[in-house]
Amino acid sequence: MSLRLAVLGLGRGAMLTVPALAAHPAVEIVAGCDPDGAARAGFGGRCFDSAEALFAWGGFDAVYIASPHEYHAAHAVMAARAGRHALVEKPMAVSLAEAAAMVRAAEAAGTVLMVGPSHGYDPPVELAASLIESGDAGPLRLIHAFAFTDFLYRPRRPAELDTALGGGVVFSQATHQIDMARRLAASPVASVRAWTGGWGGRGSEGAFTALLTFDSGAAASLTYSGQARYDSDALAGWVGELGWAKQPQAHARTRAALERTDEAGAKAARTFAAGWPQPQAPTHHEHLGSLLALCERADLELTPDGVIVHGDDGPRGVAAPLPPVSRANVAEAFVRAVAGAAPPLLNGRWGLESLAVCHAILASAREGRDVVPADLLTGLI
Ligand SMILES: NC(=O)c1ccc[n+]([C@@H]2O[C@H](COP(=O)([O-])OP(=O)(O)OC[C@H]3O[C@@H](n4cnc5c(N)ncnc54)[C@H](O)[C@@H]3O)[C@@H](O)[C@H]2O)c1
Repeated sequence: MSLRLAVLGLGRGAMLTVPALAAHPAVEIVAGCDPDGAARAGFGGRCFDSAEALFAWGGFDAVYIASPHEYHAAHAVMAARAGRHALVEKPMAVSLAEAAAMVRAAEAAGTVLMVGPSHGYDPPVELAASLIESGDAGPLRLIHAFAFTDFLYRPRRPAELDTALGGGVVFSQATHQIDMARRLAASPVASVRAWTGGWGGRGSEGAFTALLTFDSGAAASLTYSGQARYDSDALAGWVGELGWAKQPQAHARTRAALERTDEAGAKAARTFAAGWPQPQAPTHHEHLGSLLALCERADLELTPDGVIVHGDDGPRGVAAPLPPVSRANVAEAFVRAVAGAAPPLLNGRWGLESLAVCHAILASAREGRDVVPADLLTGLI
């Protein structure tokens, strides 16, 4: 099978994921689309300046949607109506109504709608999920995850700093931790109690902490700051989020660079305008901060290399094999879904439920109460 794939949005997210899609033997990248001429020039080949022009051409089977959050819904609905499969970046949309419309459109058309990549696909998360599923560790009781990053000080578009447009760390980063926790808990989120804060002078939410309970009775505490001077990768042997070695000065450098730069220009320079990323075999897995999954008979510590199982006999490392290219498992899951071999776990309904947890975090912080994510979806789907 050959999957003719178009890439819609040639920015930072696409730079991170397109190498895995392009490396998949069943995928042929046939077109790109971006309103920005420099990004199109760097991508090369057949390119269109609008989604409308891309779909009017139509020479593709599936589309990877990596446009800014606020366009995901329009682009995914366009894809479904054109009978094209879609891999849509996280978060799948900004509003729950938009996300529900995406799910309805794909289900009506019978097309694949897969959401990601998110850190929910990281091989150590997949390994931990399979270890929990095996039952050896006993039932999962508690997840403790935290990440302290410089997310908010990397160059950003104005929309990325405006909550109404999906800006801030809840929409962009909580999604990762929610997907990680949901994969391990394998149970619907029952309730959310949360707090958000932003003291970094960047607008929108810069940090949050959230307590999730699951129908299974398990709980997860998720904490994130994207305005941190402390770097939680100190606890990951100074392996950064993308799986490469990083320096302890990284956060300080990010802040200093932002002060002396034209932010819009710096953001644009991280797109395909800089040309195709050079393929490099990963030395560690992608990861986001730290995560401990405490089960009845063992505690699982996720690392950039796999999982350390802390059992009655002490700690035992289980390595997750390195892929030839990061995110290869995401490309494989999408290809298999399109081929009808296996429906994606992180499908449109999954993305909608994770987005509902993001909204529950914001609502709980605003209103000072427990929020049931399922209540936010009433009447939408
Ligand atoms: N999974 C990941 O690791 C990851 C990493 C970064 C970004 N992302 C996601 O990717 C998406 C884009 O974020 P980004 O950081 O790449 O932003 P970006 O600004 O770097 O890239 C967005 C690109 O989309 C283009 N664009 C704008 N409007 C468009 C439209 N109407 N149609 C097509 N293209 C359009 C822009 O010109 C730009 O080139 C977001 O949803 C973000 O959450 C995911």
